[in-house]
Amino acid sequence: MTVRLAPSILAADFSRLADEVAKVEAAGADLIHLDVMDGHFVPNLTLGTPVVAAIRRCTALPLDVHLMITNPDDYLETFVRAGASVISVHVEVTPHLHRTVGRIRELGARAGVAINPATPVAVLAEVAAVIDVVIIMSVNPGFTGQAFIPGTLNKVAECRALLASRGSTAAIEVDGGVDRTNAAALVHAGASILVAGAAVFHAPDCAEAMRDLRRVAEGR
Ligand code: DX5
Ligand code: ZN
Repeated sequence: MTVRLAPSILAADFSRLADEVAKVEAAGADLIHLDVMDGHFVPNLTLGTPVVAAIRRCTALPLDVHLMITNPDDYLETFVRAGASVISVHVEVTPHLHRTVGRIRELGARAGVAINPATPVAVLAEVAAVIDVVIIMSVNPGFTGQAFIPGTLNKVAECRALLASRGSTAAIEVDGGVDRTNAAALVHAGASILVAGAAVFHAPDCAEAMRDLRRVAEGR
């Protein structure tokens, strides 16, 4: 099983972002995960389109933009212009989800839908066939370095089954508290993209942490 690793720059040193991105790119990152927070949907403010555009200029990797904002529809085009390769919106704040994911694809990006820990996977049923990624949140979104919520494992397995029943080839991405202790179980349950913030950027040797995470995630 090939696993894609998406280091979350929320855990990086913001005063040296280009270096931090280069470091994880050299260490084999598959995507760069960017957490956009608005202080409304989640209790934190992080980064917006200027930072996405700046990171677009310093890496060839796909940019995985995770929108934790109450009005994602107003910003889709700006984030695609800034260089987003994948845009994920939260189902909890997206009333016309089918329209929104269609718009993301029309703009030329891949479409993702994220669900909070308290949101059941069943909400994905009617969009399963028209999305590229599901982000299963394994922490309540807002901050890096939070503890993984164990019930996520069942949700990943349920999501895998739901996607299969709907003929969807969407990838399952898990975001929050992912580390070497839960990576293998997540992949076994059906995840193929792992977001990792603290486990990568707060490690003494980030390249070694990524190698180790990939090794355990791929069951080697
Ligand atoms: C949480 C963010 C995550 C976070 C992951 O709201 O969506 O992407 O940065 O960081 P860790 O891996 O440290 O939980
Ligand atoms: Zn995220």
